[in-house]
Amino acid sequence: MLDSVLVWIEKNRSLWMHDLKEFLAIPSVSAKPEHKGDIQAAAEWAAFYLRGAGLHATLVKTAGHPCVLATTPEGLCRPDAPHILFYGHYDVQPAEPLELWNSPPFTATIRDGKIFARGASDDKGQVFCHLAALAAWKQIAYELPVRLTVLLEGEEEIGSPNLRAVIAENADRLASASTLIISDSAQFARGVPAITTGLRGLVYYQMTVTGANTDLHSGVYGGAVANAANALSTILGQLHDNQGRVTVPGFYDHVQVPDAALRAMWKSLPFHEAEFAEELDVDQLYGETGFTTLERRWCRPTLDINGLTSGYQGAGAKTVLPATALAKLSMRLVPEQDAIKIAEAFESYIHQITPAGVRVKLERLSASPAALTPSTSPAIAAAVEACEEGMGKKPVFVREGGSIPVVTWFKEMLGIESVLLGFGLPDDNLHAPNEKLDVECFYAGIRTAAALYDRLGKMK
Ligand code: BES
Ligand code: MN
Ligand code: MN
Repeated sequence: MLDSVLVWIEKNRSLWMHDLKEFLAIPSVSAKPEHKGDIQAAAEWAAFYLRGAGLHATLVKTAGHPCVLATTPEGLCRPDAPHILFYGHYDVQPAEPLELWNSPPFTATIRDGKIFARGASDDKGQVFCHLAALAAWKQIAYELPVRLTVLLEGEEEIGSPNLRAVIAENADRLASASTLIISDSAQFARGVPAITTGLRGLVYYQMTVTGANTDLHSGVYGGAVANAANALSTILGQLHDNQGRVTVPGFYDHVQVPDAALRAMWKSLPFHEAEFAEELDVDQLYGETGFTTLERRWCRPTLDINGLTSGYQGAGAKTVLPATALAKLSMRLVPEQDAIKIAEAFESYIHQITPAGVRVKLERLSASPAALTPSTSPAIAAAVEACEEGMGKKPVFVREGGSIPVVTWFKEMLGIESVLLGFGLPDDNLHAPNEKLDVECFYAGIRTAAALYDRLGKMK
């Protein structure tokens, strides 16, 4: 039956592309209140598409943006079919800076065999590969190979503040699933499919430094009253040592280096540091001494400034002592680190190194731990076969530096392990201008998803 489904998928390439473009046209930016209506529209669009594939789909209200929850009604799958969960997110990052896009972010445009749009790869395009695969199964087989529960989130890009509650409230419908499928990562390289077995965690802070109660003339007051921008720079300058290591006390406690076999496996992957540097137009790579670039990204924790604002930003010179200075900071965590302990260690270190004459306010915007997932299991075996069927190659096993908090929550709350199988490429410009998904990755993604459900349905 899979063969007929794959034939149908190939025959209907233009239909899938048309529908994907429709989905991508909805500016479902979760971070911005003015897009509330678009978020709702994207959730409804996805629910509508799932109904087309025969599923029973509803919107679940949360304190923020809704989730889409869909299940196979009686008759859409064999009564004894394995219960599988699929998670994805329909929200996207803001498209700014708009002037750096070569085509409008919410009008999917094909150039050089690539679909350019916000969400093309993260994550609407990859979610849509699954929706299309399900629609094709329904059309050709009149049933799905698995008992399926689909959970689509509208707040992933803002840290999933309400997802734990949704999981808890629907635990009875979710808990019997044997595995959670997620396509929100990437292939390792063009022609090298990958199963991701580890993600870093994330602790995120907004830090505000305040000096005097107003901006001050930098000649009249300079040297006599603390300057918030100077103070913030002093703090930020003390967060790393000259080996690139984070100086927060206890930051590396319990952090393990992967064993020699795993490090050797990563060294054997087709990755070339010189090419990586060249792609990014940097003359040298940067990072913690003693680790390769893949290790720095996959198994070492970091602390990075994500945003920095203070003082006069306009044309020309303005002589002023800024009264406030703001930084946004992320820490990427590895499996042995406890997110809350790291957050607390960070807060007390910042207070300890804050210079005299200013106050510092720390707002914790998210805190989620790293996740490791199995590299052998019946579901992983199904995913390996799906890659061979849909992408023509066996996958490599990798980790990723990004974060997907839901992986940890399904494990902790319901004991369900994830399979992370991405269809995009490492150069898809996630969160950046000109996000894209290669057209061939898109169709291969639909084929791979169709094959994955076939193999999962045959799991013992
Ligand atoms: N899909 C990404 C995470 C990702 C990117 C995993 C690349 C693997 C490879 C996800 O949408 C994302 O951006 N997550 C955020 C975390 C969140 C709490 C805002 C991240 O990693 O910054
Ligand atoms: Mn994503
Ligand atoms: Mn993202």
